[in-house]
Amino acid sequence: MSPTIPESITEAYKFALVAQGKAHAPYSHFLVGCAIKFKGVDELIPGCNVENASYGATICAERNALIQSVARFGKKEIEYVVVVAKTTKPTPPCALCLQVFNEFGPHDFPIWIGNSSKLLKKYMFRELLPISFDTLDDKEET
Ligand code: THU
Repeated sequence: MSPTIPESITEAYKFALVAQGKAHAPYSHFLVGCAIKFKGVDELIPGCNVENASYGATICAERNALIQSVARFGKKEIEYVVVVAKTTKPTPPCALCLQVFNEFGPHDFPIWIGNSSKLLKKYMFRELLPISFDTLDDKEET
């Protein structure tokens, strides 16, 4: 990873690691942490995965942060995202989370991925989800 990581991203990375420490993942043991910065919101919003005995009820770290942010601040545009998992290779957000990110604007934003020791990779959201489902994109055929 480039040595020129902005200070704000290093701070968000540390914040995501703290959130990861709160993850409830007794089934997969795959702990994920997330920090999201929204435009016009001064603080970072944390997220961690919260699993359930009914596995499908599990919520990912990224969606946890997104949903919390709407309850607290209303729907805001994403500025950047940091996600951490305990992996050697970067673990990008799952397709469900990408679809939910898509709801937060047509604009693009960076998604930084790290593990326990460092930031590994920066993607742009649109690299990960170049085409998305969006009912507002088009009208019904006549
Ligand atoms: N998980 C996330 O928190 N974020 C993702 O983008 C992918 C997967 C969680 C869900 C589940 O608790 C665990 O990782 C294993 O899939």
